[in-house]
Amino acid sequence: MNVQHEIKSHIIVIFGASGDLSKRMLIPAMYSLFKQNLLSNKQLIIGAGRTEISDEAYRQSVSADLFKICPDESSEIKNFCDHLFYQALDTSKEEEYIKIKSKLEALQAEYKIDDNVLFYLSTPPSLYYKIPDALANVGLNDRSTGFKRIIIEKPFGSDEKSARELNKHLLKKYREKQIFRIDHYLGKETVQNLLVFRFANAMFEPLWNSNLIDNVQIYANESIGIENRGGYYDQSGAVKDMVQNHLLQLLGIVAMEPPAKMDSYSIRNETLKVLQSLRRYTTDQEFDENIVVGQYLGSSTENSYREEKGIGKDSNTETYVAARFFIDNWRWHDVPFYVRTGKRLEKRVSEVVINFKNTPHPFFSKVQEKEGYKNQLVIRIQPDEGIKLTFAAKEPGTGFKTHEMDMSFFYSDFTNKNIPPAYERLILDALLGDNTLFARNDAVEACWAITDPIVEY
Ligand code: BG6
Repeated sequence: MNVQHEIKSHIIVIFGASGDLSKRMLIPAMYSLFKQNLLSNKQLIIGAGRTEISDEAYRQSVSADLFKICPDESSEIKNFCDHLFYQALDTSKEEEYIKIKSKLEALQAEYKIDDNVLFYLSTPPSLYYKIPDALANVGLNDRSTGFKRIIIEKPFGSDEKSARELNKHLLKKYREKQIFRIDHYLGKETVQNLLVFRFANAMFEPLWNSNLIDNVQIYANESIGIENRGGYYDQSGAVKDMVQNHLLQLLGIVAMEPPAKMDSYSIRNETLKVLQSLRRYTTDQEFDENIVVGQYLGSSTENSYREEKGIGKDSNTETYVAARFFIDNWRWHDVPFYVRTGKRLEKRVSEVVINFKNTPHPFFSKVQEKEGYKNQLVIRIQPDEGIKLTFAAKEPGTGFKTHEMDMSFFYSDFTNKNIPPAYERLILDALLGDNTLFARNDAVEACWAITDPIVEY
């Protein structure tokens, strides 16, 4: 993709510059975009944080981090780091934001950069009110001279009510199209490919409904535990951490109707309709029948969840959830959608699995006393990204000995390019002003409306 000419000269300001996300994801993503010449050649980055350090010290620390990942790229790293600056400020103090404004103005004047700014909030969610508000109070929401956009990390609110309040608050000073609520799952190539797979091929769409699909499974299994995120995770749990955002957004794409156009407005309208059609459970019996939660136990080498740092000995936070959802609309009437996710499971794998119905009459399977043959489509989100179709085939020779066989496609065969990490794509889209792969306010609220009763249960 050559988008360089479309990206206007700009400055990115990262709040929470010394944090883990910035170091592990944001800076490496920006560095990779820089190396591929996908950014404007007039691009600067300002790291903002509490620690008092100079531009040079910030550059050195970023360069040391990048060097660990790309040890052979010292000259590219240096070139990239020449575009970095730093501004210390106490984000909790309104009066400090003028420092960001002055730094932006000085750099814009010195490097002849237009007044386009992308603010990345990689901070604790408690600052999602303060930072956008304080920026707006010094005029840094003003779109008349260039774009002013904000990327907000998850969690966006902690329930439907708080998400609604936060949306309402942000929308007082910003337009919806200035706000980019990040859900990194939507930035994954394989998730975007679902749109192409469904809507660029005529052959799957006629099958994509309750006439032929028996059930759909969407899961994200992780082998890691909660690492050092005890403080956050114990307040969150698997439902809020993974289902409320990533997995429901994925479900929206799997189950949506064809959009009127392939644009952000139309696609997000269709995924919203799916979320609004999800059946709500209200009675204990419905919850018991449709939701299962669990928590990981320890082993001789690994901690149990309750032994992890920052977790109470009697914590009931779930690290695993399996939910059965139904979408009450014409296309999906009574087709179960099983959504599962958990930490410290055997293997890291995320997939969307479409299980088709058996043939109406078990003709060949009767011979082998089987109920039917698996007709299954697996869309592997990660790792070993690809698609696999399983169907029955006859073994050569006499009789009708039948086997389940696979046809597969792997991304690694398709292109020798590495699959770009989600953050690269999403940062680029935010700079282009394309919010298709970001969650819209109404969708975030709809997702919370689905998960709130589950959390409560
Ligand atoms: C994050 C969750 O949003 O997604 C983490 O907070 C989880 O708990 C991660 O580990 C999973 O993302 P990925 O891209 O590794 O599947």
